[in-house]
Amino acid sequence: MKPFTAILFFLIASQILRAQSPLITDIPGRHSVSLDGYWQYIADPYETGFYDYRYKELKETDPNAYWNTDVPANRSDKKEFGYTDNQRLRVPGDWNSQDPRWLYYEGTLWYKKSFDFTKHHPDERVFLYFGAVNYRADVYLNGKKLGVHTGGFTPFDFEIPEGLLKPIGNYLVVKVDNKRYADEVPTLNTDWWNYGGITRSVMLVEVPQTFIEDYELQLAPDSATDIRGWVRLNDAPRTPGRPPEPPGTPGQPAETPGTPVTESVTVSIPELHISQTFPVRDNLASIDFPAPGLKRWSPDDPKRYRVIVTAGRDRTGESIGFRTIQVRGTQLLLNGKPLFLRGVAMHEEIPQEGRRAYSRQDAAQLLGWARELGCNMVRLAHYPHDESMTRMADSLGILVWSEIPVYWTIDFGSKAVLAKAQQQLTEMITRDHNRASIIIWSVGNETPVSPVRTEFMHTLITTARGLDSSRLISAALELNYNPGKNGKNRHVVDDPLGEYVDLVAFNEYLGWYGGTPADCRNAQWSTIYDKPFYISETGAGALSGFHADSLTRWSEEWQAWYFREQVAMFRRMPPAFVGVSPWVLADFRSPKRNNPRYQQGWNNKGLIGHNGKKKKAFYIVQAYYKSLTHQSAR
Ligand code: GCU
Repeated sequence: MKPFTAILFFLIASQILRAQSPLITDIPGRHSVSLDGYWQYIADPYETGFYDYRYKELKETDPNAYWNTDVPANRSDKKEFGYTDNQRLRVPGDWNSQDPRWLYYEGTLWYKKSFDFTKHHPDERVFLYFGAVNYRADVYLNGKKLGVHTGGFTPFDFEIPEGLLKPIGNYLVVKVDNKRYADEVPTLNTDWWNYGGITRSVMLVEVPQTFIEDYELQLAPDSATDIRGWVRLNDAPRTPGRPPEPPGTPGQPAETPGTPVTESVTVSIPELHISQTFPVRDNLASIDFPAPGLKRWSPDDPKRYRVIVTAGRDRTGESIGFRTIQVRGTQLLLNGKPLFLRGVAMHEEIPQEGRRAYSRQDAAQLLGWARELGCNMVRLAHYPHDESMTRMADSLGILVWSEIPVYWTIDFGSKAVLAKAQQQLTEMITRDHNRASIIIWSVGNETPVSPVRTEFMHTLITTARGLDSSRLISAALELNYNPGKNGKNRHVVDDPLGEYVDLVAFNEYLGWYGGTPADCRNAQWSTIYDKPFYISETGAGALSGFHADSLTRWSEEWQAWYFREQVAMFRRMPPAFVGVSPWVLADFRSPKRNNPRYQQGWNNKGLIGHNGKKKKAFYIVQAYYKSLTHQSAR
């Protein structure tokens, strides 16, 4: 990253992250109190609860502000707002699917949760943690503003100042605004539903004064048993306005030699009879120890180990799998062995209910379908999915492509937009850097080629590598359907961004968005890079249950024909072809899909209909993947 860009990023990022606390990871390993359940709400399209009639932000103590009490001071007091149990929404959950009035709603909606709270331990610190809120969250507790977060698919937390919480009668108010803007990430147009709300869990997390904020443990490159990593402690509330540590901090702890040792941390893996203690300098400890007898994680044997990290009075831990993922020439290597990705792409949505997925049960349904298809990998499009999804992928042995929503025509010329994308990238990687299942971080999807865009995306790739040098970096590159340039039906991927990624990925729809599936028969694919390449999307629409001949668009027979031709084409691909994720596992809601007979607001390229029924094409792909498991890839 150019020095100027870097400095500007930190300045902008510090503004965006100003009131945010550092992201606490390994939440399931912590002591927490859930705030999930029914919250009262007020829909506020004119943001009356936030601005006065001159459209100036209300002062914090203004009695008309929707974050303050709605109880009249006396019988003469005027209150023009109020929360009631007649207006409630489930948290976690999008508002669109909970009430038909909000299906298309894009605007502000105020959530309120009242709760009592007593600390588990009197001198502990308390953080308010959100799994995700789409898109902007302004958070108030007992009338005090804790902070703001933008970005719809990544976690964030705010430390609650000492003395703000009360044993009885706390009220938490969150202003959620899911309006779309050109200078946000994603931008104005997407091919998915703009589900708004507190879409993932909310909890109070209690930690000691000095606690384990984050830690990373991985196999050292080219090693089968050496474990390396770091542990970062947090020993004091961040002074407001102090910029966050540089985004490169988690990947390369910068221990300054000579700094006095203040603490120590202990990392244990009981199953391997390992317990090692390491010195802490400036809140960071570098970790490095041999783990003889360690069994590496893989899709065939997703072995994980209970890892326990202790520091002073704090203790946390989770199950971690250890593996390596590398590119060598045009091959993908998992634990040193060639890997072919039998993937499928999916949105974070439960199709039968037309709602955001957020729970372990939801993850089990979606990953269960992927396993039934014969997948060893899922592309979680086009944004980071709920943590339950990546943790379940770890336990099931399903590889993951995880992506930030730098989607289509983002404002690539804006440093502020770059900072927002880098913030979301940092939050995605920080949350999941201990997930063995995740092998690919993707910095975007189908962004149009231009020098400004390529520099923007290259900076994101540099940021990702600074955060995590152990995983592959990719993006769905731009494919130029210009057979004339290379001769009839010869497609050469020459997106300049291919120079900077580890895996060249691209979306092709040969036979759906151009030509017919028969055009696959003499199609040839290559890239100008000496790297592995991966088809990150390919698909065709079909209305579940609509049957006709294979030349009838929208029939299941057309979609089946499409995948028969595509599969035959995959089998003819050059050796650099290392996998594919058909678009898409299941139909999903999209405001762009308005054919009144065949779509009705759904993108129906699913191999499974939004009725939960498998289409004919599901079995074509399933048979292809099954044939691969009995032979080397292709
Ligand atoms: C694009 C895009 C997807 C979209 C798909 C489609 O490749 O990446 O998000 O849904 O095409 O047209 O269905």
